[in-house]
Amino acid sequence: MDSVRLLEPVTLSRRRPYFLVLWLLAAVVSGPVGAEPPPIISGAARFYPVYAPNGMVATQERHATEAALEVLEEGGNAVDAAVTAAFTLAVTLPRAGALGGGGFMVVHLAEEERTFAIDYRETAPAAAHRDMFLREDGTADPTKSRFSALAVGVPGNVAGLLHALENYGTIDRRRALAPAIALAEEGFPVSKDLFDSLVIAAPRLFRDPAAREVFYTRFGAPRVIGETLRQPDLANTLRRIAEDGAAGYYTGPVAEKTVDFLRGRGGIMTLEDLAEYRPVERSTVSGHYREFTVHSMPPPSSGGIHLLQLLKMLEPESIADMGFGSARKIHFMAEAMKRAYADRSVHLGDTDFVDVPMSELLDGGYLARRMADFSPHGATPAADISPGDPLHPAEGDNTTHFSIVDAHGNAVANTYSINFSYGAQMMVPGTGVLLNNTMDDFSAKPGTPNAYGLIGGEKNAVEGGKRMLSSMTPTIVLDEGGDVLLVTGSPGGSRIITTTLQIIVNTIDHGMNIAEATNAPRFHHQWLPEYLRVENGFSPDTLGILRRLGHEVREMDAMGSTQSILREGSWWTGASDPRRPDARTLGH
Ligand code: DON
Repeated sequence: MDSVRLLEPVTLSRRRPYFLVLWLLAAVVSGPVGAEPPPIISGAARFYPVYAPNGMVATQERHATEAALEVLEEGGNAVDAAVTAAFTLAVTLPRAGALGGGGFMVVHLAEEERTFAIDYRETAPAAAHRDMFLREDGTADPTKSRFSALAVGVPGNVAGLLHALENYGTIDRRRALAPAIALAEEGFPVSKDLFDSLVIAAPRLFRDPAAREVFYTRFGAPRVIGETLRQPDLANTLRRIAEDGAAGYYTGPVAEKTVDFLRGRGGIMTLEDLAEYRPVERSTVSGHYREFTVHSMPPPSSGGIHLLQLLKMLEPESIADMGFGSARKIHFMAEAMKRAYADRSVHLGDTDFVDVPMSELLDGGYLARRMADFSPHGATPAADISPGDPLHPAEGDNTTHFSIVDAHGNAVANTYSINFSYGAQMMVPGTGVLLNNTMDDFSAKPGTPNAYGLIGGEKNAVEGGKRMLSSMTPTIVLDEGGDVLLVTGSPGGSRIITTTLQIIVNTIDHGMNIAEATNAPRFHHQWLPEYLRVENGFSPDTLGILRRLGHEVREMDAMGSTQSILREGSWWTGASDPRRPDARTLGH
């Protein structure tokens, strides 16, 4: 009974002066950002985010989070921490973060009030051509585009990350690479997540001699949980990059070994392809959603355009009033998703090579017309939804994302990838570098689905030097005052766009805290294949209504691994997706 009485209001108010003194002390110690107490989470919240007043890091692997946080604590900015995290993930999350991949970084610089994107997506080797993945009978050969030496695009990671550091960072390259080098050299314990990924990848990865030596015993068993995984060749490659910058990867022995290895297997990448690789700075795709401004990734990602299309299609309705798990909401959003992905199948490609009608695809009138045949009473069959014609309106599962913010209000949303788990499942001997199989993101044959079931059009046909279309959607949302509100993104192939969308809708429309928004069950529709994919966790009543509306509902595996940071008042709140066990968010 006594303990119950302690909770009575009178007891609390008698204690308040002590709390006030403690709070004032904490406010003085933690500086201006922490001058306000953290928001009190309502009793209805089921999940708690991580809170911190100054800066925060959310990545898919704990060593990377810790290394990046240390940089922030030493006074480095969000870009310094991002580059540190990315190189660390290349060691500790080898299935997704390898040096031999490519990606996208969206950066917000608070002082300059500027948000922009760095595109370091892989490019097709100069000798690539549109029919390179076809069999003699003209059909697409997925083994060629996914698991042969032809599947490998010219990697962009090293160039892109160093571009970010040299232009927007404050720390020395050697400092940024130090944690990655130490972890590759001295090793780190194999986690359950890493072990599981090695078991799944074994049938192909074990056949690659260099990868076998690193990840497996002679008898084919993966390194066991808790065993120290050392990657000495990778440590040497990282050391070269620390000393010589991008030249340490794109020229000299690492480049020569890469080209020799690929050429020996029928590949077409040349030393010139590597030496000529350049990252590109691009304007973000930006637009308003309710009172907020959303900045996301432009082509060669389809992510930003379709995220904004979707938000614009949803905006006229009150998603909040529909309710989180209601069939009405899921049906409405799924129908919008179908229309956006139908547009993707035709209109998107690398804007350095083809015209993408970006402003037309995002035009309010066009999007209203796209939703004009939406019926709340039934699903529109995919066959009745064609890609729109924005130019003639009258005729009308491996990648990893991390989010970082610093004490100055800067933010980085970064998604990078080697496409499949362990990419092409090839390691360049003597370098420790795993290679991507991102060439499969081109349309091997326009109209034929890629590994994610995505149909690509002529605009995404293979061409030397071109960047293949992506769904990666690193996103930063600003509030009305232009300050960072939300930093988010996810892996998940075609599901990246809709996963990112749901983090925005869950926080902005449903008012969830970032942990709830992350943990909430997800759904996805991509027009073709024609089914509504849902995670475990929706009510059977809801699913029953959706089926009666005409959706083929399939309950399938979890989708995405978001790493997100949301500002609440003057506090950063963050959450790592529990769908990936090693993920970690930490702040200071
Ligand atoms: O760029 C893309 O869209 C794909 N290569 C991403 C692959 C992916 O997310 C796989 N991860 N789970």
